[in-house]
Amino acid sequence: MNDKKPVTAATLLRAKQRGEKSVWLTAYDAVSASIAETAGADVLLVGDSLGNACLGFDTTIPVTLEQMIHHTAAVVRGRKAAWVVCDLPFGTYQQSPEQAFASSARVLQQTGCDAVKLEGGMHMAPTIRFLAERGIAVVAHVGLTPQSVKKFGGYGKRATDADGRAGLIADTRAVAEAGAVAVVLENIPADLASEVSGMLAIPTIGIGAGSACDAQVLVWNDLLGISESNPPFAPAYANVRQVMSDAIARWADDVRSGAFPK
Ligand code: KIV
Repeated sequence: MNDKKPVTAATLLRAKQRGEKSVWLTAYDAVSASIAETAGADVLLVGDSLGNACLGFDTTIPVTLEQMIHHTAAVVRGRKAAWVVCDLPFGTYQQSPEQAFASSARVLQQTGCDAVKLEGGMHMAPTIRFLAERGIAVVAHVGLTPQSVKKFGGYGKRATDADGRAGLIADTRAVAEAGAVAVVLENIPADLASEVSGMLAIPTIGIGAGSACDAQVLVWNDLLGISESNPPFAPAYANVRQVMSDAIARWADDVRSGAFPK
């Protein structure tokens, strides 16, 4: 799926209903947005993975709303028809539905993006409902939620036992009933993601959640082999770090030897 008409939440829902997979990829600037969309991405997610991928942080927790707005506005300038989703960063939505609305309003008004994403299941359902009732397209994110890394102590697989599975199912039901337009399932067992994808009317977006999800998302740096290491569920499709490094090293040699400029 990658027609030239603007992608909307309805487009993604129709794709699920037709059994067509959608392609989501993170993007952090106008260049990555344009390359990703031209290559076939339907959705550009300005993830708060921005913190790890571009800003040199070791978690997503330090990322600010101002940084998300700055990068999302650039992605919007680089896209033509892709749907652009901006992550609400840690501390900008958890306090209250009103705080989430104020943050989302800033994001939508100052970037021109299409939707916001927030982490959390059942406990965030009242906030999702508050935003959805006020006309905001919300993508939920459950399973491994990187903004809670300090609570869980790592990035391991979630929902691996019976209680965890039941909790994950309840979380996805709650966010869908609250009005989320899609839900990211991160690092959960593939059979559970398959069950949830069959159960929900809204699209599921998998990352480390098997092939049955309605869409897949990867982080730009992981897909392209720019990250120094990838999570086990995110194979690199190229070694762009090496390509860039080789080009810079050849040019540096040419500068030092006098071969550049000719
Ligand atoms: O921040 C991000 O890039 C994300 C994806 C990994 C889903 O939330």
